[in-house]
Amino acid sequence: MVKRAGGALLLGIRMDRASPVPIGTQLYTSLRELMLSGAIATGFRLPATRTLAKELSVSRTTVVDAFERLIAEGLIISRVGSGTFVSDVLDAERPRPALPTDQSEALPAKPKLSDAMDHAISKFSSRARLPYQSGAFVTALPAYDVFPMAQWSRIAAGLWRGARADVLGYGEPFGLTRLREAISAHLRGNRGISCEAGQIFIVGGAQQAFYLIGSALLDPGDRVWFENPGAIGARNSLIACGADLVPVPVDRDGLVVEEGERLSPSFRLAFVTPSHQQPMSRIMSLERRFALLRAAQRAQAWIIEDDYDGEFFFGRQPIATLKSIDQTGLVIYVGTFSKSLFPALRLGFMLVPPALVESFERITASFIQGVPTSIQAAVAEFIQGGHFATHIRRMRGVYAERHETLIEQARQHLGGLLDVVPTESGLHTIGLLPPRISERTATRSAAEQGVIVSPIDRFSIAPTAFNGLVLGFGAANPREIREGIARLAPVLEALA
Ligand SMILES: Cc1ncc(COP(=O)(O)O)c(C=O)c1O
Repeated sequence: MVKRAGGALLLGIRMDRASPVPIGTQLYTSLRELMLSGAIATGFRLPATRTLAKELSVSRTTVVDAFERLIAEGLIISRVGSGTFVSDVLDAERPRPALPTDQSEALPAKPKLSDAMDHAISKFSSRARLPYQSGAFVTALPAYDVFPMAQWSRIAAGLWRGARADVLGYGEPFGLTRLREAISAHLRGNRGISCEAGQIFIVGGAQQAFYLIGSALLDPGDRVWFENPGAIGARNSLIACGADLVPVPVDRDGLVVEEGERLSPSFRLAFVTPSHQQPMSRIMSLERRFALLRAAQRAQAWIIEDDYDGEFFFGRQPIATLKSIDQTGLVIYVGTFSKSLFPALRLGFMLVPPALVESFERITASFIQGVPTSIQAAVAEFIQGGHFATHIRRMRGVYAERHETLIEQARQHLGGLLDVVPTESGLHTIGLLPPRISERTATRSAAEQGVIVSPIDRFSIAPTAFNGLVLGFGAANPREIREGIARLAPVLEALA
């Protein structure tokens, strides 16, 4: 119930006794708003605290506390013997609230955004948040259920009991040295990359890396080869940096380099996911990798290698990373802990070639606030203590089993409806639909039955010939996968 004060000049005070906000805070906020909006003029003499308390049916202490807060802010002044007044400070020139250009409009005119950001959000934005709930067939999430929570919390709690300066201060500008060392050792040992800790820059997830690389290396209108279909987050970041994306098709061998050269021989940057193409789930062939490196060298273009879930291979021994065969010095490797640990860490890194180290040192020192030191330290300890390698090994088995279950169940129950394509790594794959079933309709109908899938064209920047669904198997256990297929089958049958 909203109650108004009875005093003529304080009619504007609004207090709601049903609100969880303490009544004193409501009184303070309300008085403050009245003064800042000019509804109570400067020099106005406020009623005595006792009178106001009575009028508002609150205790005098409540009013005194509110007045003291306003006095401390300089909004009112108390003159001994004569009362409390709204301060003259409020007469100073201050910006007035912006009025709509046309007074009849309820909202002020839309603010002008930069051309790049306007283009990015008008073409591709969605209000949907990234997935956070596991289940069949959510993509982009790891298996929460198998994460070694006890081990993690022991490490994290131990860090919080350590030196205060380590966990309470600003972090090191390029990232915690221990973590940079742990990551570079991991990349040398497991991803075939020879690198130094000094080339690693810690960022708030791969997403921040893409934005940072784009803003550091692209001028508005620069042409960027982009896999079509391709990764949504990277696409949005690069467009927002002013990139002119060139949709380069992908086939079973990954990015069709020849087509890129035909569409745009001079390009500034190429973005690829060679270990597990997002979303088509193919591994880029070695020939294509060399072709891409040659094309980049010819154009003197940079390459972003996004290795977001390449740790999880379960087919044959994986092809090494693109970075590991790079002799050009043009590949910037981006990694994330969102899949290998969990996305809430918001922890990723860039491995930049030697020629870019100094620039990125200056950029990150100037602009990046970094990831909380406590998170970085916990991950460093997790890696250095050997838990990370154990976790990855274990997860390969878990994801292999989930993948196997998906393929097997689809073979048994989705014949002729959805051709689920086996993959050799990662946490998702695709299923191809027959032309008579539209991927958008299938996605909507599946969601009505509680099954989450994504149409391939959500990842496209230009039309493709594909008609199918992206299916995550990483965040659903075998039972959930079986149930998901059992619910998806009648949906697709009805559409067919
Ligand atoms: C292609 C791709 N790259 C990178 C990431 C990870 O991004 P971040 O580290 O910002 O969570 C994702 C997450 O889904 C992804 O799909």
